[in-house]
Amino acid sequence: MLILSCSSKLRLLEGMLRQGLPDTLPVYGTVMHVNRGNPARQEVLVDSWPEFKIVLTRPNREVTWDPSDFGTNLYTAFYRDEGACRALLGNSRAVDWSQAFQIQGLQDGVYETIRDIARARGLEMEMYPYLPLLHPDPPAMPQYRHDEGLRLAPVSPAHAMLLSNTWMFGWNSWSLRYLCLLIRHFPNACLLGPEGPPISWSLSDPLAALMHGYTLPEHRGQRHIAPVVGMLAAQLHARGFPVYTRVLPHNKPSLQHLQHLGFRILPGAFHQLVVRPGFAQSQPAHALDSGQAPAPSSGERPCAQ
Ligand SMILES: CC(C)(COP(=O)(O)OP(=O)(O)OC[C@H]1O[C@@H](n2cnc3c(N)ncnc32)[C@H](O)[C@@H]1OP(=O)(O)O)[C@@H](O)C(=O)NCCC(=O)NCCS
Repeated sequence: MLILSCSSKLRLLEGMLRQGLPDTLPVYGTVMHVNRGNPARQEVLVDSWPEFKIVLTRPNREVTWDPSDFGTNLYTAFYRDEGACRALLGNSRAVDWSQAFQIQGLQDGVYETIRDIARARGLEMEMYPYLPLLHPDPPAMPQYRHDEGLRLAPVSPAHAMLLSNTWMFGWNSWSLRYLCLLIRHFPNACLLGPEGPPISWSLSDPLAALMHGYTLPEHRGQRHIAPVVGMLAAQLHARGFPVYTRVLPHNKPSLQHLQHLGFRILPGAFHQLVVRPGFAQSQPAHALDSGQAPAPSSGERPCAQ
């Protein structure tokens, strides 16, 4: 197991991961951010170099993280060899299984490995089986104008509480802290209403994926999210990032609007796996919007629709 800290190796890795797109998307987006200032303080592990069989990104061990905060305790994985994947994810020098964490990846082996290790350790695993969506040609995205009286702008940290209280993982102190990190350091966009606060917004995360796209319920169905996603996609594309996201399969409004904008659904599942040893689940039912996540399913297979 090696920690890649040399900038030329990390650049080389970025290029290798680019060749493996779209399977490498979450790891590729994370490594791109690591190579551009690393605002989420991630580090990159490989089993061997330069012929790696697995790449794992994880929170930097030199930073003190809140052990109950699975938002910032974020891992992504891409493997070429399932045995190497099992060996690294089961190695407690690579993954700290005593802390709450989440891991994201597009390959079923990541899901199966985490499920099996969690079971063997007697830990609960929550699974969110998203559909991966990628925009094949962001400059060709249809341009939607916003209504007069509304204004496109970056999201402000002053909006973090509103964003936390409308997010499926929100309503708690770590979600507020995590959203503040995203707002301050990663591209985002919102549509400000005439009174000032945003009526529609979208963020991006340390994987460079679009996340927490939201329109206030009373403003839905008027295409407000389209210019917001257009502005965010343009920022990401201008910086060389892929424009991609993940959506739960039953979230028809979200799938509809993204497909209107030209996003394509990729095959397979975009797994988000959350392990919280010894910590009570912090997802209150009232935070779940009807268009968002179902109750997490422990150890189930991803849904087909
Ligand atoms: C997904 C979401 C951001 C879309 O925002 P929006 O500004 O309403 O976007 P649009 O106006 O383009 O509507 C998108 C789809 O929502 C549905 N919709 C239309 N009117 C609606 C209304 N009054 N209320 C709810 N949904 C409506 C339709 O399916 C529409 O697609 P269509 O125009 O092809 O019929 C918004 O529904 C939302 O905030 N949902 C809850 C949070 C969420 O699920 N976020 C995405 C996480 S991946």
